[in-house]
Amino acid sequence: MEEPLRTPAASRCHMTEMVLPNDTNIRNTLFGGRLLSLMDKCAAISAMRHAGNLCVTAGIDSVDFWHPINLGDAVMLDAWVNRAFRTSLEVEVTVQTQNLASKELRHCNHAFFSFVSIDEDGMPKAVPAIHPQTEEEAERYKLAALRRELRLYQKGHIRLVDAKLIKEEIFAALAIKDFK
Ligand SMILES: CC(C)(COP(=O)(O)OP(=O)(O)OC[C@H]1O[C@@H](n2cnc3c(N)ncnc32)[C@H](O)[C@@H]1OP(=O)(O)O)[C@@H](O)C(=O)NCCC(=O)NCCS
Repeated sequence: MEEPLRTPAASRCHMTEMVLPNDTNIRNTLFGGRLLSLMDKCAAISAMRHAGNLCVTAGIDSVDFWHPINLGDAVMLDAWVNRAFRTSLEVEVTVQTQNLASKELRHCNHAFFSFVSIDEDGMPKAVPAIHPQTEEEAERYKLAALRRELRLYQKGHIRLVDAKLIKEEIFAALAIKDFK
């Protein structure tokens, strides 16, 4: 039987949690670390749903906490794969909260996670390609490659001179044609 196309939508993971007393600090708001743990779990499910294989968190791009999340609030997480590279994947995660009494919704967090698919020996293992289906998914797919270069440069894994996509983007913005 032919394998169905692997798409960002097929990798999507939704999770809803309620903030309980164990999750909070002395201000009765959610611990940042607890939220990161939920985001990591949601992102990991999305990565593994795509890869069909065990994936580990390799890194998280900067995370900001825009609003406090209160005891009793519902926390809704949404994660999907933007792009699969050779053995790694970029997963985007967003967090919304809801005050269950007033029904007010708030967009509280957003982050990009890098996962690596691994084999039984913990060694990186190739992941299947992802096929964006909408314009929005195609844009996310394109930007994911740029972010990956930026990330690898920031971590010292590649030199700026080898960051081809970033150079192309900058030179296009400056309308410079010959960037060799
Ligand atoms: C993630 C891990 C498997 C990478 O192993 P490695 O030997 O460094 O792998 P490589 O250098 O061959 O890189 C493999 C892929 O990971 C990517 N990668 C490695 N480190 C990365 C990082 N910090 N951020 C983003 N991507 C990273 C590489 O770009 C490469 O991607 P590609 O194959 O798609 O081109 C290894 O570092 C590991 O096991 N880390 C611990 C993971 C873990 O326990 N996570 C939970 C934390 S509590």
